[in-house]
Amino acid sequence: MKVGIVGAGMVGGSAGYALAMMGGVSEIVLVDRNEALARAQAEDISHAVPFVSATSVRSGAYDDLAGARIVILAAGVSQKPGETRLELLERNAEVFREIVGAVGSATREAILLIATNPVDIMTDVATRLSGLPPQRVIGSGTILDTARFRSLIGRHLGIAPQSVHAYVLGEHGDSEVLAWSNARAGSIGLETFADQIGKRLDATVRQSIDDGVRNAAYRIISGKGATYYGIGAGLARIVKAIAHDQRDVLSVSIMTGMVEGVPDVALSVPRVIGAAGVLADLFPELDREERAALRRSAMLIKEATESLRF
Ligand code: 2OP
Repeated sequence: MKVGIVGAGMVGGSAGYALAMMGGVSEIVLVDRNEALARAQAEDISHAVPFVSATSVRSGAYDDLAGARIVILAAGVSQKPGETRLELLERNAEVFREIVGAVGSATREAILLIATNPVDIMTDVATRLSGLPPQRVIGSGTILDTARFRSLIGRHLGIAPQSVHAYVLGEHGDSEVLAWSNARAGSIGLETFADQIGKRLDATVRQSIDDGVRNAAYRIISGKGATYYGIGAGLARIVKAIAHDQRDVLSVSIMTGMVEGVPDVALSVPRVIGAAGVLADLFPELDREERAALRRSAMLIKEATESLRF
């Protein structure tokens, strides 16, 4: 199982590191137009491997992606403090014009895994540029926001995040929708669970969790310039689901035919992930406010995509 990573900056490097730590991947190839950076990241990651796995990690050119089952696209500019993800659009679409073609010439079999922001629109761009079926062009979408949501709920209720079943839908960005109405702790509705253990789950608590999820990236970027460990682990998680045909339900972004009346838009809902990529989309039952918020999120992505000179 060979995985390519295009873009060897902090996100690409962290994805490579997380994959190497996870094991189960035989080879990782890092490609970057800054060859010295790709070489250095590969060498550094390869020194972590003997402690945990037997993955071969190296740098290479696009040709070296031949035979890769998955290629992660993490190239492009990232947010500066105060900048939104959407503000990166024009610059990163330009980067994708070059790299999606180069990856396609090296391998037609690979599933593309998009990490570059604004990730939903970049997923749309990569789908169009590659000509691949949407099920094989997967954006990391809200996988990280969902992890942030689950961990904050888990912390509040005193249970493991893995026992919280809750999803963030829509844009990976400011308009994302925290689906509170169908969130569960184990198999129990959150409100009921909170009542049973004598914890509050009122508007103030929800607002603080919402802020913790929605504004996490802004806080991290203002403190250390970028976010990368979380998304690196999220990308490794998606690779694992594909590599082992796990049929995991993960919130990721792909081109979707219709979402709350908005046609052909890339955004996140929970989806079943296996060896062939996305096997099915799941549309959770939402309350009226959440549905309206998901529609607004879909429309915002659609308008931003259409504004792109493409
Ligand atoms: C994040 O949410 C910046 O999209 C990146 O961490």
